[in-house]
Amino acid sequence: MNLVFLGPPGSGKGTQAVRLAEKLSLVHLSTGDVLRDAVKRGTELGKKAEGFMSRGELVPDAVLIDLIENLLTTGKLNGGFILDGFPRTVPQATGLKQMLDNNAIRLDKAVLFDVGDQEIIKRLSGRWFCPKCNAGYNYPAKLPRVEGRCDNDDAELQRRPDDEEAVVKNRLEVYRKQTRPIEEFYRGESILTSIEGQRSPDEVFQSLLDEVGG
Ligand code: AP5
Repeated sequence: MNLVFLGPPGSGKGTQAVRLAEKLSLVHLSTGDVLRDAVKRGTELGKKAEGFMSRGELVPDAVLIDLIENLLTTGKLNGGFILDGFPRTVPQATGLKQMLDNNAIRLDKAVLFDVGDQEIIKRLSGRWFCPKCNAGYNYPAKLPRVEGRCDNDDAELQRRPDDEEAVVKNRLEVYRKQTRPIEEFYRGESILTSIEGQRSPDEVFQSLLDEVGG
């Protein structure tokens, strides 16, 4: 099964992708995670992406299309995948279609997680993570045992710089202007499916399983 996950920042794409990938043995590729890792390691990709990410803007299409093409042609997405956070613009969506056609791969569904702005701001202002093991926490929904420390390794928890409220507002604006139009693209391909994302993670996951037949 090959899926793309769409939805505004904080709509739960990553949370649900991790669970579904484990259940269905799919490769989970989060372009945000790949870019953050590149920034952390100071690679060429990271240097290209860092400024855009810190402002909540999109990294240029050509950079992302090259990244996905490389993963496809080297077989890293064989056996089924969830693309989480790609595509994010119409050129990325048409670029992906072209790449998949060239490799005789079919995209089964584009799953859209629908969540309102207020809920998104609440979720992202409460998001913390462990820089050592990457465990995620959310105040007040998922608290660590000791305030500010990771349950697994006691490391000091951090926030993503792009989760600052002003940057989140820009990410939402960018989503509306640049990403929303790809819903129409996938509706035209008859593979768009929308899930009400403003429910508990378990309820959202159940709807996701119903949609993809897992
Ligand atoms: P990226 O990392 O993809 O950020 P995003 O799309 O803004 O997604 P998030 O990770 O913030 O949210 P999510 O929907 O995965 O939600 P999550 O499950 O984490 O991209 C970051 C940046 O990289 C972009 O701004 C851009 O600069 C660049 N980039 C990446 N891809 C690109 C591309 N294709 N083209 C160009 N640039 C690109 O959940 C969020 C929080 O809510 C968590 O704390 C979670 O615990 C909580 N939560 C989840 N589900 C629920 C629920 N049901 N109820 C309550 N809380 C919940």
